[in-house]
Amino acid sequence: MGFENRVIKFLLNQTEYQLRDIDPNTTVLDYLREHLHFVGTKEGCASGDCGACTVVVGEPCDDKIYYKSINSCITPVGSLHGKQLITVEHLKQGKQLHPVQQAMVNCHGSQCGFCTPGFVMSMFAYRKNNVRPERQSVIEALGGNLCRCTGYKPIIEAAMQMYRSPLEDQFSLAESSVVEKLKAIRQQQATAELSAAGKTYFAPDNVAALADILLKYPQAKLVAGGTDLILDITQFLKEIEVLVSTSRVEELKLVEETESAIELGAAVTYIEARQALIAQYPDLHELIDRLGSRQIRNQGTIGGNVGNASPIGDMPPVLIALGASLVLRRGDESRQIPVEDYFIAYKKTALQDSEFIERIIVPKAKPEVQFRAYKISKRLEDDISASCGAFRLQLDDGLVKSIDIAFGGMAEIPKRATHCEQALIGQPWNDSTVRNAMIELEKDFTPLSDFRASADYRLKVSQNLLYRLYLELQSSAEQMRVTHYG
Ligand SMILES: Cc1cc2nc3c(=O)[nH]c(=O)nc-3n(C[C@H](O)[C@H](O)[C@H](O)COP(=O)(O)OP(=O)(O)OC[C@H]3O[C@@H](n4cnc5c(N)ncnc54)[C@H](O)[C@@H]3O)c2cc1C
Ligand code: FES
Ligand code: FES
Repeated sequence: MGFENRVIKFLLNQTEYQLRDIDPNTTVLDYLREHLHFVGTKEGCASGDCGACTVVVGEPCDDKIYYKSINSCITPVGSLHGKQLITVEHLKQGKQLHPVQQAMVNCHGSQCGFCTPGFVMSMFAYRKNNVRPERQSVIEALGGNLCRCTGYKPIIEAAMQMYRSPLEDQFSLAESSVVEKLKAIRQQQATAELSAAGKTYFAPDNVAALADILLKYPQAKLVAGGTDLILDITQFLKEIEVLVSTSRVEELKLVEETESAIELGAAVTYIEARQALIAQYPDLHELIDRLGSRQIRNQGTIGGNVGNASPIGDMPPVLIALGASLVLRRGDESRQIPVEDYFIAYKKTALQDSEFIERIIVPKAKPEVQFRAYKISKRLEDDISASCGAFRLQLDDGLVKSIDIAFGGMAEIPKRATHCEQALIGQPWNDSTVRNAMIELEKDFTPLSDFRASADYRLKVSQNLLYRLYLELQSSAEQMRVTHYG
């Protein structure tokens, strides 16, 4: 690879920047504050939890820019390649505040001001992507921004009030030229690269190049959104020698629909996958919208959620209960395995050296099969599950024909509840069978106590989730009866 390839190119607002000699473990936040001395963006937690570091990245989508709020504290600087980076410093025009900032002033949305740049950037992304405000979606967009002093009411009011000014701003005026510049950057290099301080970041744009790089560097760490992995750097102070990004790999960004399945490339984010998944399984709506924050859902991928093999990830139990499978690739060779076979022991997976998740295949819904997923966490928004249960059930003439149950947070890996399933299969779907099956969960799981929940609570709440499934299905069956015969 020639010298010209050893570069990350992006637009800081509208100006092209090239990165050559920055340590690839540097986050966008540190790059802004320490290298560019753009200190408007704040560091609160350095772990994606508080939103103080929120910046916006613009990405070309047809001939428009799609604006995403992200946590700059857990985003590697190399991931900026081919994107526009907008920070709070870019909003003001001369002495004129941007309408988003003016609305915050008008509504008294700031006190100490530490959280304000982060809120303003989340609001800015919302304003640019939504023609009109809707209170619930404003709350969803701001769920990843914490404020310890102002209180959220004036901030939400400001987000509604910012719509009183027209959308046309300096970013709208420059949009087509920014699209052209970004497209040009994206076409210049098949693999963007950043090498410094004995570390390298590779960002290939196609799957064959990704597979080749991983064969050459079997010790490399794959990074998709970075919302898990980069915490190793910011929280555990690890140094990662070779980072290989999936976020530019075209084939891994596809959401495809076949006759029987939804196929998600491993680098598809929650926001990108949401619509296709919810169209099949409407009950996933709540779980996806409560997964992390808007910033996390903009960056985080389902491939990363599986790849991370955390026992408390939300998508693995869902995918196991749905009977989903993974396409794993190493070099030119691919194999397909059920998601449940991917998890072997705590953080140990079926992946071999240089192998990666290429696609996730999710079977489509069938009218005769019911699906529910429940997340239990202390806070409604932006919180990790204490327990997450997913259930797929088919009844036939009042008997349980098939049932798949999987839990996260209950064992060292996301895992099926096989004893519980066996207690239900072939049995009448009634109160007594369900209560017996709830007891069987004690054979399936011996959960841990930690700061999220005690072992007893985890077991009890998971048993109750099965009962909740029973009650919900009873009440929807009852509603059907009323609708048809009432
Ligand atoms: C504030 C905050 C809140 C969060 N809330 C939740 C939550 O509510 N629920 C939840 O489940 N998670 C949550 N997470 C964790 C995280 O956001 C998710 O697990 C997310 O899906 C990770 O995706 P990513 O693309 O960011 O993964 P990355 O961090 O890029 O990667 C994660 C791991 O997967 C590996 N990997 C990535 N892509 C592949 C691939 N194609 N093949 C093989 N391995 C791969 C990486 O090497 C790494 O080990 C939260 C994280 C933060 C910081
Ligand atoms: S500093 Fe708290 S989310 Fe980034
Ligand atoms: S204004 Fe002080 S933290 Fe929000």
